[in-house]
Amino acid sequence: MSKNILVTGGCGFIGSNFVRFVLANRDDVKITNLDVLTYSGNPENLADLQNDSRYNFVHGDIRDEELLGKLFDECDAVVHFAAESHVDRSILDSKPFIESNVLGTQILLDAARKAWGTEKGRFVHVSTDEVYGDLPLDKPELLFTESTPLNPHSPYSSSKAASDLLVMAAHHTFGLNVNITRCSNNFGPYQFPEKVIPLFVTNLIEGKKVPLYGDGRNVRDWLHVDDHCEAILTVLEKGINGEVYNIGGNNERSNLELTHMILEVMGKGKDMIQPVEDRLGHDRRYAIDPTKIKTQLGWQPTRSAWPQALEATVKWYVDNAGWWQRVKSGAYREYYQKQYG
Ligand code: NAD
Ligand code: TYD
Repeated sequence: MSKNILVTGGCGFIGSNFVRFVLANRDDVKITNLDVLTYSGNPENLADLQNDSRYNFVHGDIRDEELLGKLFDECDAVVHFAAESHVDRSILDSKPFIESNVLGTQILLDAARKAWGTEKGRFVHVSTDEVYGDLPLDKPELLFTESTPLNPHSPYSSSKAASDLLVMAAHHTFGLNVNITRCSNNFGPYQFPEKVIPLFVTNLIEGKKVPLYGDGRNVRDWLHVDDHCEAILTVLEKGINGEVYNIGGNNERSNLELTHMILEVMGKGKDMIQPVEDRLGHDRRYAIDPTKIKTQLGWQPTRSAWPQALEATVKWYVDNAGWWQRVKSGAYREYYQKQYG
């Protein structure tokens, strides 16, 4: 088991939940969190760990080679979350996605290779089901497996697919120990309120309508972030070198169904739905086949069942209004204005 883990992007949604999850479940692990703090990186997400001697925050960029050289000397694994992560932002401006997701991943891979050579260390690259493209609505039996060809559609998913290929290139060319995880849509605490669930919940608390794209029939597979974190930790500890693992909850919902459930949990009427123009190139359906990680590594989702898991998440945003109110002020307002008018 790795004892000194470098986590990149640990101040974001999934990264912060991962840091907390690992420290709560493994006594003998130390974590260094490297995060440049973009708009979605928030140190407040890990404020409760400030005094934990096993946790160390480094404010810096995954493209800073000199800094990486020092950090890699002291760690034996990296779990790489750092990325630009929002599809709509990638449609407005794709450049930061190429800079962080593609170039940043390559610089991180080079640093790992220089520090570890072959057969040492472990590089876990956190990717997404969106690299597979989308599935038709009228063939519910179709699921993404690890051998589904990469066919990304958005600038975001294309930049993630590019990073996946670079990770595999480092494995095949230089013998770097790697795994790639490809997960479906996550929900849970500390998600930046530009993604659909926290956006809709916080809008409703503020008395605003929820902007539903297009006909609302697009389907996503929803997994609780802690189930994702446990899957990544499982891959870090038991993954076979060079393998890709799909992670999903077999919990497919159309956006309309999701919206109705949120409205019901929050005691709001359907009149709070504001149909808006569809996202450009909006992927119809994502659906993961998680058989490989379940059968080969023994992972099971245990925290994702609806409606309970969705209700608990809604409650978290209701109970933690201070957190998202601070987030929703400032720079975020400018983006919201651009995106929704
Ligand atoms: P997020 O936007 O909440 O967090 C991203 C974090 O990365 C932020 O803290 C940001 O400051 C940091 N970061 C960005 N560029 C950086 C750079 N150049 N150097 C250092 N830090 C940088 O994203 P998230 O939702 O937590 O997603 C984390 C990862 O998981 C991403 O790689 C994403 O592609 C993947 N993923 C997300 C989901 C999902 O549903 N959110 C699903 C599957 C996979
Ligand atoms: P999102 O949370 O952005 O995740 P992703 O695009 O990575 O799946 O969006 C989830 C779904 O919700 C997606 O089909 C787009 C839709 N959506 C809306 O209908 N309205 C919104 O304001 C947002 C942000 C998303």
